[in-house]
Amino acid sequence: MPPGPRLLMCPPTHFGVEYVINPWMEGNLASTDAATAATQWNALHAGLARLAGIELIQPGDGLPDMPFTANAGLVIGDVFVPSCFRHAQRRGEEPLFTEWATHYGFTVRKLPDGMHFEGAGDALLDRGSPRLWLGHGPRSDPGVEAGLAALFDIETVALRLVDPRFYHLDTCFCPLAGGWLLYYPPAFDTDGIGAITARVPESRRIALSEQDALAFACNAVNVGRSLVVNQASASLQATLRAAGFEVIETPLGEFLKAGGSAKCLTLRLDES
Ligand code: ARG
Repeated sequence: MPPGPRLLMCPPTHFGVEYVINPWMEGNLASTDAATAATQWNALHAGLARLAGIELIQPGDGLPDMPFTANAGLVIGDVFVPSCFRHAQRRGEEPLFTEWATHYGFTVRKLPDGMHFEGAGDALLDRGSPRLWLGHGPRSDPGVEAGLAALFDIETVALRLVDPRFYHLDTCFCPLAGGWLLYYPPAFDTDGIGAITARVPESRRIALSEQDALAFACNAVNVGRSLVVNQASASLQATLRAAGFEVIETPLGEFLKAGGSAKCLTLRLDES
């Protein structure tokens, strides 16, 4: 595998909102424009290609959510843990992503049969300490924590997601380089907030407004000191700049209709 940051992306050839499995998709059936989606995705790809090597997986016909490669599985080192989707509509993606990972040279390690797990959508490595943050509730099962703890020697922290709009951890929580954390506190219960505040010092926590959270500002791709996002308010951008980050906005409105944005459209492949 080549050195340096690497991301997996999937062209939006067959992208669309063809069913409703999250609140964002409601009212958006068949409302996406293929040309606009392609333009937005190409701009994201071009922006990210300046920061990281991009690998592509061939899109599957009849799999309109496959561009959201964050849900392919979880990568740690040379291990790929495949997803087991909650909703039948996305299960056809599972063999395609596993086949891709095998060809790419990953060792595939599965969670117990039938355990729902939506990959890097619900499993995020801390960028300051050896720690794996896990979201559960709407999509991934709580048992994933024990399943992954049996595979990896790393601290795991389970966070229950309580707002249906923020149904994957990567929609409301984003660990950043240097141990910073972007998050939307109302998406978590009291225990979750306790687990977060016990581990990330206040000086490193950046709590988002609802407006920024709804614009998917937590769904950021962080490579080094750069952050690529759909949109972030002027005040959030100022806070991030003061923390040493460069914010690059790239509009992804067509993908928001499906409930995803920049980070969901990528899978980090060089995780140690
Ligand atoms: N429509 C997709 C779904 O509901 C969007 C996935 C977004 N991915 C993410 N990692 N948040 O599954």
